[in-house]
Amino acid sequence: MCGIVGYVGDRSALPVLLEGLKSLEYRGYDSAGVALPLDGCLEVVRRAGKVDELIAATAGSANGQHSGIGHTRWATCGEPSESNAHPHRDCTGNLAIVHNGIIENHVQLRQELVAGGHVFHSATDSEVVAHLVEAHVNAGADLLDAVRLAARELHGSFAIVAIDARNPGAIVGARVDAPLVLGLGDGEYFLASDVAPLLPYTRRVVWLADGEAAQLSPAGVRIVDLEGVEHAPSSSEIAWDREAAEKAGFPDFMLKEIHEQPRALRDTLRGRADASGELTLDELALSPEDIAGVDKIFIVACGSSYHAGLVAKYAFERWARIPVEIDVASEFRYRDPVLSPKTLVVGISQSGETADTLAAIRYARRQQARTVVITNVVGSSISREADGVLYTHAGPEIGVAATKTLTTQIACLWLLGLWFSWARGALSPEAAAEVIADLWRCPEQMEEVLADDSRVREVAERFAPAEGFLFIGRGVGYPLAMEGALKLKEISYVHAEGFAAGEMKHGPIALIDKGVPVVAIATHSRVLGKLISNIEEARARGASIVCVAQKGDERVLEVAGDVLVVPQTAELLSPMLDLIPLQLLAYHVAKARGCDPDRPRNLAKSVTVE
Ligand code: M6R
Repeated sequence: MCGIVGYVGDRSALPVLLEGLKSLEYRGYDSAGVALPLDGCLEVVRRAGKVDELIAATAGSANGQHSGIGHTRWATCGEPSESNAHPHRDCTGNLAIVHNGIIENHVQLRQELVAGGHVFHSATDSEVVAHLVEAHVNAGADLLDAVRLAARELHGSFAIVAIDARNPGAIVGARVDAPLVLGLGDGEYFLASDVAPLLPYTRRVVWLADGEAAQLSPAGVRIVDLEGVEHAPSSSEIAWDREAAEKAGFPDFMLKEIHEQPRALRDTLRGRADASGELTLDELALSPEDIAGVDKIFIVACGSSYHAGLVAKYAFERWARIPVEIDVASEFRYRDPVLSPKTLVVGISQSGETADTLAAIRYARRQQARTVVITNVVGSSISREADGVLYTHAGPEIGVAATKTLTTQIACLWLLGLWFSWARGALSPEAAAEVIADLWRCPEQMEEVLADDSRVREVAERFAPAEGFLFIGRGVGYPLAMEGALKLKEISYVHAEGFAAGEMKHGPIALIDKGVPVVAIATHSRVLGKLISNIEEARARGASIVCVAQKGDERVLEVAGDVLVVPQTAELLSPMLDLIPLQLLAYHVAKARGCDPDRPRNLAKSVTVE
């Protein structure tokens, strides 16, 4: 979850590192630090708190260094503090490392290193890396070899970048199960946890593979595996531009990303589903014969991605008539699910780095199941693990709350569901073409919903002081209720729960008291009548009812205190539109309560530990 960045080239390294850390801050922000070589020694500055603290602390620092490494931390081992902040130095103080991930055997390694005379200064697992690399340098290895040999001794997940003031013209990185990307400039090179820090300088990147180490110097890039065998770097171009990674005039990334959804959905559909009903999903690596051989689908994911899976289950089962089971990824592999070569396991992960989802896909492969993943990050770990990959093409999502990546995940899942229904002959070509036509209408309809933002804001500001919210829905509205509640609690710290409306009478209705806001996802469906009865029951007990409903639905108008209007669409596609008022509601409640929606407390964008 931490963000790491490294630079070597002609520029002054400090501003490159600080700017890079700012753009990586969504990965963690409890402390930050940099290490830069200065006259044969390392200058290391670290601060507890956000990157701005570090920027203030380095204000008077010399700017003449042309290489350096930096880190922004999300604590996993050792409390958030300055002494636990990275970079961590070796005993000489000449060598420093930054690390993202978890070293599982750090206790044993620390004991061995201490017995060998090494002195530790932090409570982190990461510091063992500095001392291990030091031990290999002392034994005669150059920095690249020392890092690779150290990496071989580490158990767990890690991306490391190291620098040695005795050879300031090079930085070295290595990765196992944590992301690290190289940026190739003109005589200058970058290393980072993702592409955001590279975009101001270059779009040419090399995605370091698991078990590779790289040395970057003005002379170029050298990549080796952990055995020391040379690998030729294979570069690719990033299509995202710098502006895409910035706020584009919105006060927060989350609001910008909510508004980007129509564009993101168009990008997700383009080239895959054309208006005539034709589907092209070659990237799935699943032929019609393969699909005919699948008798069950498992979906595994975490958080909002899990909700995307729940939404998709309704469509898969109705369109393709195939059984779908869904699990939170952290439960999946520990409950001995029954898999076979006839099972398809679909993993969903925005970041492509979520440890549990990654592990679930690996587990599925070991059980000989077929695997497909849906991710937003090209080159992410999960994309390299599965038989087929569907990219969401949502562009970088910086806000911790998943918004545009969730709606585009759902779109990818629907395409997959249509692909299955077509291959299994479960849906007529005309019916499939109708769904695709409806889907292509969604971006414009989403724009309509977004244009009504001021109405959502007004409702949100009125209810912002409430101590708790309930969200209810039926059918495909049920996972939306869970998502509405997750979004609200995650960014505004208000207690919120999402329920299947039919479950209200089995317990949750006891929470209802005068004025408790109940948000009902009440768009058109085969169960709307039943949902309206549940709304009536809540209203009779004094709840304040807010409904997400379709234009002109008189039945809902009669029971709702407030209505957040969305255009009409097919029942199964309604999540695409209904999610927007729920996202905006959470956003405006968070703002009204003075919370930072982009950086909610205790959370990180990418959860790379179990
Ligand atoms: O990167 P992933 O999609 O695997 O992340 C899964 C969850 O951590 C993520 O959806 C989380 O729940 C979001 N912060 C919700 O807004």
